[in-house]
Amino acid sequence: MAVQISPSILSADFARLAEAAAAVPNADWLHVDVMDNHFVPNLTLGLPVVESLLRATSTPLDCHLMIEDPDRWAPAYAEAGVGSVTIHAEASKAPVRTLRQIRAAGARAGFALNPATPIEPYEDLLGEIDMLLLMTVEPGFGGQKFLDVVLPKIRRARALIDKHGGQIWLQVDGGVSEQTIERCAEAGADVFVAGNAVYGADDPARAVDGLRSLADK
Ligand code: DX5
Ligand code: ZN
Repeated sequence: MAVQISPSILSADFARLAEAAAAVPNADWLHVDVMDNHFVPNLTLGLPVVESLLRATSTPLDCHLMIEDPDRWAPAYAEAGVGSVTIHAEASKAPVRTLRQIRAAGARAGFALNPATPIEPYEDLLGEIDMLLLMTVEPGFGGQKFLDVVLPKIRRARALIDKHGGQIWLQVDGGVSEQTIERCAEAGADVFVAGNAVYGADDPARAVDGLRSLADK
């Protein structure tokens, strides 16, 4: 599958989100980190801001829910019209139901694993998932250091996805930069979230192109 880049607006100016979206017209997605200060020790934004962003950009939104009760909220994000909704394995109490509700509302269903959460217990869920997100930092903040310890899991996930034979995208999120993206791509990731590496750059659109060409080798 072609490489996709999803800039994380967590590293943008929250008072200028429309400009942040417009700054990366070459992005495949805009990654929106929803944090509730319970699942992770940080608080960002919720559905009203996502609804405003939907009106402000034509780039599809990739909503990553780092919240304690994704089963309660995920369907509403899908119904609002975002392109992809990702729930965390560690937070969802009914992932099969919630993933199905996301799909039924017309969005892609994403399933995220923290660095220490193994993939193997979820193998039987692959048929319910459109995108597997492997966190390459502990979730909660942008600008953290990439965790190499996750690389073997990216390889195992790629093998499981290929064995499954479905069209599941494999996303990595956290510390993805020009220094780390090639290792992720080599391990089998194909969708790359990047916050600091895009919005910390002088020219965010150029940073997107740079990341894409490094991952696309
Ligand atoms: C962290 C978020 C990430 C974050 C990535 O919990 O899920 O999406 O924005 O930021 P960088 O790329 O700066 O590590
Ligand atoms: Zn994220």
